[in-house]
Amino acid sequence: MKLYDYAYKILMGGNLDDKLLSSTTINWDINENWESARYQSPARSAQIAFSEDQIKFPSKGALKSDKEKGKALHFFANHELLAIEMMAQALLLFPELSLSQKKLLVSTIDEEQKHLTLYLERMKDFHTTFGDYPLNSFFWSFMDEIHSSDQFYAVISLTFEQANLDFAQYYKELFKDLGDIKTYEILEEVYQDEIKHVARGRIELLKSTNSPDDLWNHYCESLPGKLTPARAKGIRFDDIGREKAGLGRDFIESVKNYQNSFSITNRKQWKK
Ligand SMILES: [Fe+2]
Ligand SMILES: [Fe+2]
Repeated sequence: MKLYDYAYKILMGGNLDDKLLSSTTINWDINENWESARYQSPARSAQIAFSEDQIKFPSKGALKSDKEKGKALHFFANHELLAIEMMAQALLLFPELSLSQKKLLVSTIDEEQKHLTLYLERMKDFHTTFGDYPLNSFFWSFMDEIHSSDQFYAVISLTFEQANLDFAQYYKELFKDLGDIKTYEILEEVYQDEIKHVARGRIELLKSTNSPDDLWNHYCESLPGKLTPARAKGIRFDDIGREKAGLGRDFIESVKNYQNSFSITNRKQWKK
């Protein structure tokens, strides 16, 4: 299968099987080219369709119950699926990426598919099936504003994936404290992969800067619309993961100190 067809099937095939299509089906061809293509929304079958209904993420105390654990993993699984779809859209949108950039993006999709599968399997232990709860399209809504690969890496890798270091770190410890080692191990694997994904975004953005000192400014300039670095951090700030992803001390401090008043209220305000 051509790379274009692989990305198209992931994005516009509606079933979970399409979303989990293996990259081993790709016939890599250095001369493959296509016209940049943008889609309004990923195709999703009725079972996994986006919903406007909103549900709350389970509170810390509630996570003792299996039902609420299943619900939490359902949220995480949707984030993985959105990442897969956004990366597939980026492949279709930016045919000008080099072959090695495309290969790196595909191996990131491989890892997001692995995360999704791990969550779906663990959800079964909690009698939860993907689609049991409403699935939001929040992250996808930023695709509209992404017009360059630098913007893509700034939004996906250095904002959402960077914030996910904090969330994965927090929740893996929480599940460990709850004695749920299986879920802890999944989150640990996700966390380790996320460090690599943040590093990939850092390396991509560095290609457009003269020196690593310019990374912060270039990152900020590459964020589209209302998105700010406030969204690049989560529940508990993880310095170590960021260092492992190769982010410099100044960059890390800039994220940490950015708009410290950032709260759930702020989050709601810029939600579209
Ligand atoms: Fe992931
Ligand atoms: Fe990731």
